[in-house]
Amino acid sequence: MHALLTGSTDGIGRAAAFHISRTGAVKTLVLHGRSADKVSSLAKELREGGPCNVELKIVLGDYSSLESVVELAEEVASVCPELNCVINNAGVLVDYHSLTKDGHEMTLGVNHVAPVVLTLKLLPLLERNKPSRLINVASMAHLYVGMSMAYKDEATGKTIRDGSPLTSIDFSKVNPKVSADFNPYFQYSLSKLGNVFFTTELERRMRLPENCERFKGVVVNCLHPGVIDTKLFNVLSHRLGSSFTPSAVDSGIITIMHLLTSEEGGLVSGRYFNEEGRIAAANAIAENREEMQKFWQVTVTMWAEAFVDGRYKSLNAL
Ligand SMILES: NC(=O)c1ccc[n+]([C@@H]2O[C@H](COP(=O)([O-])OP(=O)(O)OC[C@H]3O[C@@H](n4cnc5c(N)ncnc54)[C@H](OP(=O)(O)O)[C@@H]3O)[C@@H](O)[C@H]2O)c1
Repeated sequence: MHALLTGSTDGIGRAAAFHISRTGAVKTLVLHGRSADKVSSLAKELREGGPCNVELKIVLGDYSSLESVVELAEEVASVCPELNCVINNAGVLVDYHSLTKDGHEMTLGVNHVAPVVLTLKLLPLLERNKPSRLINVASMAHLYVGMSMAYKDEATGKTIRDGSPLTSIDFSKVNPKVSADFNPYFQYSLSKLGNVFFTTELERRMRLPENCERFKGVVVNCLHPGVIDTKLFNVLSHRLGSSFTPSAVDSGIITIMHLLTSEEGGLVSGRYFNEEGRIAAANAIAENREEMQKFWQVTVTMWAEAFVDGRYKSLNAL
């Protein structure tokens, strides 16, 4: 297999890079980073610090700019035309209001919109080189979307607060332009719902009668890696407050490796896996076609805003 690993320079991605290269779990490993220094020194460590049983390549891209994400996809296609696996792992939890270069709230832009754009740009490659695997690192946080903010359910007129199951999302609030409307938990859990939603939506579109032959052998799944001691978790625990006790970073790669190397990982598609590598129930809202159509529309609008020159249109191939 020839795999791209995004966000390889820290935390779970870095641990996965070490494991994959030491065990030779793939033939080519394309390491993605946003910092040239960081990703080069990772590649050096992998090559010189122990047995390196993969061919390593390096690509750069900053997810806070969709222009950079498109260039990243083009670079991946050029350095690894055999690509047949993408591990979408890069992510952030930003605890202050900030915007990407395209004017999107940072956490949602980096965690949801950027990987959607990257994946859709790489999909023709995955189709050509099938069998192919697409692995999206989501989070159990997606189960809690909406729980950290009061929310009015239009159907019942009731205000839903912490702990209540969410039946719909007010999509006018998902991309706050000013800090008064910003809630870091909501943005993070929504972005992770985005990962689950994109998994189920892509699966649905790939299996439509007009697409199913093309995408036979292309699978897409998402996962929760566990609560893992990384800099992203530190934002949650130290600055935002969390009662979770994190596990060591190496345990965060169990399900990634399962989906990358197991027979099941090549057969099952459209599912959410827990940190033990087992299929688990995702947020029911991810199965709500009406709500998810709205989410898709918001996502499309966000990338459309970024590509005023019309380049986004090629992303809508499915
Ligand atoms: N840790 C947990 O408990 C936990 C739980 C559930 C899900 N997850 C998910 O696991 C994934 C990995 O997170 P982690 O905990 O390993 O976090 P991390 O240690 O902070 O690593 C995140 C990776 O994403 C990269 N990244 C961040 N912003 C980026 C940007 N604008 N453009 C390109 N790359 C960017 C980082 O690059 P730099 O090295 O340059 O910073 C780093 O390589 C995320 O998708 C996260 O949502 C984590």
